[in-house]
Amino acid sequence: MKTPTPYPELGLVNTREMFQKAMAGGYAVPAYNFNNMEQLQAIVIGCVESNSPVILQVSGSARKYADPSLLPHMVKGAVAIARKTGSNIPMALHLDHGNSFELAKDCIDSGFSSVMIDGSHHSFKENIRLTAEVVEYAHTKDVTVEGELGVLAGVEDEVSSEESHYTQPEEVEEFVSKTGVDSLAISIGTSHGAHKFKLRPGEKPPTLRFDILEAVESRLPGYPIVLHGASSVSPEHVAMINQFGGNLESAVGIPVEQLRRAAKSAVCKINIDSDGRLAMTAVIRKIFSETPSEFDPRKYLGPARDELIELIKEKNQNVLGSAGKA
Ligand code: G3H
Ligand code: 13P
Ligand code: ZN
Repeated sequence: MKTPTPYPELGLVNTREMFQKAMAGGYAVPAYNFNNMEQLQAIVIGCVESNSPVILQVSGSARKYADPSLLPHMVKGAVAIARKTGSNIPMALHLDHGNSFELAKDCIDSGFSSVMIDGSHHSFKENIRLTAEVVEYAHTKDVTVEGELGVLAGVEDEVSSEESHYTQPEEVEEFVSKTGVDSLAISIGTSHGAHKFKLRPGEKPPTLRFDILEAVESRLPGYPIVLHGASSVSPEHVAMINQFGGNLESAVGIPVEQLRRAAKSAVCKINIDSDGRLAMTAVIRKIFSETPSEFDPRKYLGPARDELIELIKEKNQNVLGSAGKA
């Protein structure tokens, strides 16, 4: 039997107060995914330098990749990086797209301060049962829980869906009251990955379903909403990847103005993974192409990390509105 690690021992907080402040302040807290040291360093440094609260986000497969035993130590070290600069930004460690009670419990017991249980692919009834089971355990440890209603297209960790199914606003009150869940991810037209829309030449991405978001907000006043699949897919990074041997021709993301609009609403958490992956890949491809003799990982992962720091600062400032809010 492993000894549990309560998250305050890692210097973390849950998301409750972060979301209350984000709701009152009209911004969203960034949730950046990571699976290696450079990504984690970049997230912490970027959020410290922009004085933003931050949710360090790890999928089940990313946790396996980094190693469940190593991860809490990495995160404790990341908190130390922030504190030694004198920064007191609130930091949460969150499980992204948890798909079972066992995984959520294991994360809670190993220092996560927040977990998502994604029962969106199940029936409404089973989603309620599974989410309530996780909430019951999580709340005994003061860990916050995110649920999901509606299905996003694209890959959600080990679950993938060809089609999206928008959230049905008439289901949200029953879901929240029967599960006791602390925040709710909804489907309003975003999707995971770097190819969010199939557009014809010259065509613009469609507008997100803000009508659904507004209907959810009016049924759950003051309740924190979460947006997944919210990368904007920078055309500069895509062009760089393609210029240096990559092939991401039809990559397209969510326009920044639409995310800004969402961040001002009840959306309190915005998930960004693909944009960080693209930024690092673009820089690494350029270095490999321009300096084929390079084989010291620090010489390509270091500049990739710097690019990610800049991306994070820019997002916090201009998209989430979380810069200066810690
Ligand atoms: O929503 C999925 C996230 O982008 C995590 O992806 O399962 O490849 O780590 P991953
Ligand atoms: P993107 O693929 O748009 O970055 O979405 C990430 C996400 O929702 C993680 O849960
Ligand atoms: Zn997601």
